[in-house]
Parts: sequence; C-alpha cells; structure tokens
Amino acid sequence: MDSTWVVHEDTFEAERQHHSETIFTIGNGYLGTRGTFEERYPGDRQATLIHGVFDDAPIIHTELVNAPDWLPFSLFVEGQRFAMNHGLVTNYLRTLHLRTGLLTRQLRWRSPGGQSVDITIERWASLADEHLLAIRYTVTALNFSGEIELRAGLDGLVENPCALQSNMGLLHWQRMTQGYPAPQIATLHSRTRTSGIDLCQAVYLTVEGVENVSYAPHDCPNCPQVIARFHLAQGQTATATKLVTMYTSRDISNPAAAVLEKLAEAIARGYDALWAEHVREWDEYWRVCDVVIEGDDEAQLALRFSLFQLLIATPRHDDRVSIPAKTLSGFDYRGHVFWDTDIFIVPFLAFTLPHLARNLLMYRYHTLPGARDKARRAGYQGAMYPWESVPSGEETTPHWVPLADGRVVRIWCGEIEQHISADVAYAVWRYWQVTGDEDFFVNYGAEIILDTAVFWGSRVEFNGREDRYEINDVIGPDENHEHVNNSVFTNRMVQWHLRTALHTLSWLQETHPDKASELAQRLHLTPERLVHWQDVIDRIYIAQNTETGLMEQFDGFFDLEDLDLTSLEPRTQSVQGLLGIEGAQKVQVLKQPDVLMLLYMLDDEYDQATKRVNWDYYEPRTDHAFGSSLGPAVHAILGCQLGEIERAYEHFMRAARADLHDVRGNADAGIHAASAGGLWQAVIFGFAGLKLTPQGPIVHPRLPSHWKKLSFTIRYRGETRQCSLES
Ligand code: BGC
Repeated sequence: MDSTWVVHEDTFEAERQHHSETIFTIGNGYLGTRGTFEERYPGDRQATLIHGVFDDAPIIHTELVNAPDWLPFSLFVEGQRFAMNHGLVTNYLRTLHLRTGLLTRQLRWRSPGGQSVDITIERWASLADEHLLAIRYTVTALNFSGEIELRAGLDGLVENPCALQSNMGLLHWQRMTQGYPAPQIATLHSRTRTSGIDLCQAVYLTVEGVENVSYAPHDCPNCPQVIARFHLAQGQTATATKLVTMYTSRDISNPAAAVLEKLAEAIARGYDALWAEHVREWDEYWRVCDVVIEGDDEAQLALRFSLFQLLIATPRHDDRVSIPAKTLSGFDYRGHVFWDTDIFIVPFLAFTLPHLARNLLMYRYHTLPGARDKARRAGYQGAMYPWESVPSGEETTPHWVPLADGRVVRIWCGEIEQHISADVAYAVWRYWQVTGDEDFFVNYGAEIILDTAVFWGSRVEFNGREDRYEINDVIGPDENHEHVNNSVFTNRMVQWHLRTALHTLSWLQETHPDKASELAQRLHLTPERLVHWQDVIDRIYIAQNTETGLMEQFDGFFDLEDLDLTSLEPRTQSVQGLLGIEGAQKVQVLKQPDVLMLLYMLDDEYDQATKRVNWDYYEPRTDHAFGSSLGPAVHAILGCQLGEIERAYEHFMRAARADLHDVRGNADAGIHAASAGGLWQAVIFGFAGLKLTPQGPIVHPRLPSHWKKLSFTIRYRGETRQCSLES
C-alpha cells in the first residue's frame, strides 16, 4: 500500500473522535458522509449532507440538512452487540483510500462472553452513480461457532446542531412513510420541515458465505431495518453487503419509485460490477488531477487528501449548487458558500476538470436574481452577491451569533464584505482565460461581470473635496478590521472589475453584437454609465505610496497600534480570540492576507519591488498560526514569487496540515475547503510558477530543495499538457 495514497489511524482515540470524523469523510459530489461508525457512539457527530437540501433554521437563515443516516449496521455475536467500548478491541486500523474513496475499518473484537471475531467494514459512495452507496461488512468467527445477527438500516432521527444553543439539536425532517417492499429491503421517506424537500432512501441487505440466512424486517419508527440471522462456524467468514439508494424531489419527480428502481438495478448488476464502475470514475479523476511530488511524502499525501476532499464535494450533475466553505463534511458555516469557492477552488478545477468549474460558476449565474435583489434592497443597482450564499441566492450571513459565554456578536459581513462581487467576476474572467469556454462566457459569464459592475458603479462614492471616488464602510479580506474606508483590496479590485467589464462589453460588441446589444439593453448599459465607469477607473482612490509602492490596507491602518505578535507567544488562539473583536480592530494584525491577497490576484499588474515592500510590511503582521486558514497558501505563493522558498514552504506546510493535523483545532467542524484549493495553487502557481501569458501557460519552477521532482497535468483551452519539473 503506497502511504501517500492513504490516510489511516491505528488507534481509536475518543478525544479525537470529531476530528477523525471529518478526516474520514467520504462522498461523491452529491453527498458527503462524515466518518462516524456504523454502530454509532454517544457524542458522535453523524452527518450526511446532500447538495441543495436546505431547510430554514434560526439565526443562520437556512442550512444544509443532516440527512437520515445510511450507515447503521450492527453486529450481534451470540446476542452480544458489537461496540468498541466494551469487550476488547485489537488490531484496529482505519484507512481512507484516496485513490478509490474507500473507507475501511479492520479490527479484532473479543466479546464480553469471550467469542473473538475479525471484522472488516468497507464503505463507499459511488462516483459512477451518485444515488448509490455501499457497505460491505465481513465477520470471521475465530474461536467459536455460534449465532450471528446483522442489522442494516436507516436512521431518520438525526439532527443538526442548533445555532442558538450548541447542546440542542434541530430536527429538520418529518417522517412520511417507511416500508418493507421485500424481506431484504427497507425504505424511508422523509420531508424537510419548511422547504418541503422529499428524500427517499432504500436499503438492501444480503449475506454471502454462509447457508440458511433468514431475513426479516425490524419496524422501528424512523429507523427501518433489515435483520439477517445465520450460524457462523469457527473459521468461517460471512460477507454482508448493504446497498443504499437515495433520491430527493430536487432530482426527480417521483423519488420513492426511483430509489426502488435504482436498487433493483444495483442488485442485478452486483457488487463487483458496481465497484468496478466506481473505481473507473476515480481513475479518470486522478488521471487529470493528480500532482506527484517526489521527495516529500507528507506534502504528497496532504495534497492528495486535499484534492480528494475537493473532488468529493464538487457537484458533478447539478449547477444550481456549489461547494460550501466546509465542503459537505461538517456543520460549520451550515453549507453556505463563500468566496472560498470562486477564488480558492475554481482555479484547480478550471485547470483540470473545466466542466466542473463551469458548474460552480453557473451556480453564480443562477443566483444572479438573489444578487440583484440584495443590491436593490440596499439601495444600489445591478447585482451584489451575498457574502454567504445558498441556492436561492439570498444573503444568509447571520446578523449575530451567540458566543459560548452567552454574549452575542454582531456579524457585519453580510452587509459590508462587498468584495465578493468582484471576486465572482474575477473567477469568471480567470475561468474564461484558462478554458476559452466561449459559450459560457458569452451566454452567462459576461452578464455576471457586467451586472456586478453596474452594482459597483452605483456603490462608489464621489468625494468632491479630494476629487476622487471612494468606497467607505466595508470589510476587506482581513476580517480583523470592520467598517473601514477605502480598503485598498476592494477599491483596486473594483477598478480591475470595471476595466474588465468595459473590455468584456467591447469584445462582445465586436464578436457577438446581438448579445452585446441585448445585454446593453437589459442591464441598462447606457453610454453615460460607461463613461462613469471609466471615470471611476481613472479616479478611484488607491492608497499606495508612489515612491515606495507600499499600500495602506485602509484609511488609518498605519496609525493603529503596531503590536509585536511575538509578545503574545506562546498562544493557542487567534489574536482576535485573545483581544476580542474590538481589541483586534485597534492593532495592525491581520487575520489573513489583504494587500497581499490583491498582489496575488492581480499578479501581472505588480512588479517584484511592490510585492517585496508589501510582503515585508504585511507578512510579519499576519496571524498565520490561528488566523484564517485562507492565508497560508497565498503566502506560500507570494513567498515563491519573491524567492523566499523556505518561508514559502513553511506557509505551504501550514496549509497542508490544516485538516490532517488539525493545526487550528477546528477541523472537527469540517474540512477547510479554501485551504485545500489553495494548497493546489501553492504547488502549481507557487512552486511550479505556472503563469498564463498571451502565448499560453509557462512555468517558472522554484521547488523546495528536498523535492526531487514535481509532475502534474493541466488542461488549457481544450488541450491537455503534462508538466514535469526537477529541482
Ligand atoms: C474568513 C473568510 C472566509 C470564511 C469562510 C472566515 O474566517 O475570514 O475569508 O471566507 O471564513 O471560510
């Protein structure tokens, strides 16, 4: 077994339980299931989250709903229920096989009565058929012959943690029906409380390797089960297979019929054929997505793990959903989508699986009505994207959140973290540059860029005294500072955005005049408006010292207290956690790159000297250890550009360890999706130095000294290119 393709644990530690559940998440782009155990344990955080299945919830507006658990599988050995916290467990090994998305647990269990069994449990979510899931449970009797019972079912009594009070749960499901259409099949039909989405699930249990298996339903309310009973002789192995199918009313008009049809089809095809089809799909993914790092097994594994987590969270057949900040692996941020997807994840997909990047950008297209509504309600024109987005397109950032100590914190991002609209436009533009997907750009992307530009045109403020445009009262990427004026990131991105919008329109006028005039008419792109955009481009205030090139993150940043971060060491929490929101607001400490984020995004527009002076100023003033997980990968890229390879590598490894080593202590709440996408960018744009030029992509490698070789594949405008770099 190649250790750079597997994540494993060889002991089960109860105190790391929630972290392991996140790490051992599996999925298939339709749903994600955390790595809780089939037999369930007190305090575990079971979750299966299905893209698009949202329901209303207090404070957080709406959240991805925890779906009825498809994992339940219990084993009784001579009447004793298997659980790892009684009897004796030895030879425990849990392994996530990244190549195939298979999660395996192996162990030996001695029951309290002294019977020993070897158990192997495998689970996977089919990538070939996103409505199909499977568990294979094998039991070998080691020192006895006796009666075995297996129960495989569904558990509809699942909750979401309540945002109001963390020790309370919120049940989103109403039970509709459950049934047993055949002795080996059970079904559950549930409906979300307020959004009215139907979810149907069917389960089938079969046991091979033993004779005379008797099957019977066990009709427990909300938890339909199929029971299999048989005799196992000493040395004999029984292999049980549980197949599960799921459909929602978002997918199909009659999900109850669809789950049974799909189940019948799966049973007829057989486990081996289903598995082979699934593996073929994974092979296809890895053929284009894998990045090989020779000479650094830790980095190699972390990168593959990150790409695996992104791939299982990326919708394949649905462009009305997108990847949440914690993928489908945890409850934090409740399934809401942030700029994390557009800026940190889309580039990876644009260069490897462009049709999937397109899905994520189509999601932004479909949510334009929500963005228009948000702009209108705030008194602006055009489209203003929500900071936290869901498929309805509404702004779903909570206005306030309760802290553990009972205090309440006002969250302003939904109102004033407005750079998201430029970020989405940027993602569209970059996707178009990489893929040349003209159909997307002409029919969807251009409208996104133009209508968000309309928003900025109405958002900027003219300061007559200074004879310049300004944008006041915003939050830039660095969320340690709220209500700031003239965020250099925001203003500069707006300038880029308006320039890109003018360019887009004139390109459309030349190449697709009908589309250009349709959009000009529908979005009111009048000559006056275009003149205004040009005026804003020329006169928007960008706080940059013309001699040194140093930018001031926002008005007055340099006047804040210049706190020496080392004076806070040793610490185990963020600067914001230590000083409080108000305290952090008063010091020059960044939660994440802000000016440096700009230099990274508009890379081509800044020279080395500008990057150097800003890096020297801002990098030491950033809370790398406990600030945002979005930061390290971006610092790694800029570090590479500045020839600071060792420092870049340190930042890179901080991103690499974000989830596997839980460096921030919050991986229990879900995968850090942006960091995972950033990790790919740090390797490709940082160490490999990939850049798009008018002549196509070029590389400028600067590998860490211990990397022997770096190889990867990119897709560029329909062509596949292999790249192999040696240090
Ligand atoms: C970061 C944001 C990010 C969000 C979701 C916040 O802590 O500051 O930049 O979008 O988390 O990951």
